[in-house]
Amino acid sequence: MSAHTNRKIVLNQRPQGEIQEGDLLLKEEPVRDIRDGEVLVQTLWLSLDPYMRPRMNDSKGYMDPIGIGEPIVGESVARVIESKSDKYQVGDIVTCYSGWQEYCSFPGDAPMVYKVDAGSVPLQAYLGVAGMPGRTGYCGLMYVGKPKAGETVVVSAASGPVGTVVGQTAKQQGCRVVGVAGGEEKCRFVVEELGFDACVDYKAGNLEADLKAACPDGIDVYFENVGGEVTRAVAKLLNKGSRVPICGYVSAYNAEDASKVETPFHVFGAMGENKPEHRFFLVTEWQDKHQEITKLLADQVASGKLKYRETVAEGLENAPEAFKGMLKGKNFGKQLVHIAD
Ligand SMILES: NC(=O)c1ccc[n+]([C@@H]2O[C@H](COP(=O)([O-])OP(=O)(O)OC[C@H]3O[C@@H](n4cnc5c(N)ncnc54)[C@H](OP(=O)(O)O)[C@@H]3O)[C@@H](O)[C@H]2O)c1
Repeated sequence: MSAHTNRKIVLNQRPQGEIQEGDLLLKEEPVRDIRDGEVLVQTLWLSLDPYMRPRMNDSKGYMDPIGIGEPIVGESVARVIESKSDKYQVGDIVTCYSGWQEYCSFPGDAPMVYKVDAGSVPLQAYLGVAGMPGRTGYCGLMYVGKPKAGETVVVSAASGPVGTVVGQTAKQQGCRVVGVAGGEEKCRFVVEELGFDACVDYKAGNLEADLKAACPDGIDVYFENVGGEVTRAVAKLLNKGSRVPICGYVSAYNAEDASKVETPFHVFGAMGENKPEHRFFLVTEWQDKHQEITKLLADQVASGKLKYRETVAEGLENAPEAFKGMLKGKNFGKQLVHIAD
């Protein structure tokens, strides 16, 4: 056995609605020795992402549910601490789907493991705006939203890592960009620091009127992250020929019965001849561009062109609370867990 002890957070029982005490459990176990061809990594930063909540349910979405007793899925930035693979050396920094745990081993030829350049940007940015959420925002906007200069682009969850990249990328395309976010502080940040033209606080009580005032020429691209009342307000302002990349709808992720949720597909699909071009997309559709777009976004972070915020929980044991909070908007920017230096 290796000298290390692993701590991991496993799915103990499937949450009904919001995650409760006892749904997730912290477990300890010795780290097993690696076999020929394998590498052992230590997690430095763990990413918390909304998609993890639907994967705790017993329903097959676009990926299998997490098994009972298995660690919660998740991507991390990790350091190789032992290697019996000629592909990796001790000290290499990678992004990998380690799950919520402090150590993890995998074969040297495992997919979805990427070495990262540890010099130019903070490592944890590879989990945020220069990582999976950033690529999601970039690809969903550019290849599904297809924004043109002068158009109005609206993005919900605007201060999060996906929304942050959508809005700043749309500005670079010459669009008028309007964010939707929860609370005055997030809205101020989105306008003053990220450079959006306006940001509507959907919690202020005047969503429809505020959104209309912020979009005097209607909406040409709506980047959907949240669903619910924001979707219904946006639908009324969509222009002819508008496009709606459906990235996710986090307002429904804690629903006790997903079959009863009114999804963006219901709302947009019912618009008859005014129906926007809309579809769900997955970031992995552009897996072949992973390296190219990661570099494009990391370069923008390095130069200061792409701005972002992050919220950091300290220690694996605090991941469940941070995750529950993120689904309610307690995070400000990318939610991370710092595990080790
Ligand atoms: N399709 C894909 O491949 C893919 C990949 C990555 C992410 N996604 C999706 O992208 C979206 C954003 O992800 P992210 O990582 O950038 O998350 P995030 O913005 O950091 O966190 C989620 C945010 O959703 C907002 N929210 C929560 N409940 C809400 C409600 N009832 N109504 C309106 N807003 C609500 C909160 O912001 P406020 O405080 O502003 O309300 C919260 O901070 C999610 O839907 C996620 O599932 C999809």
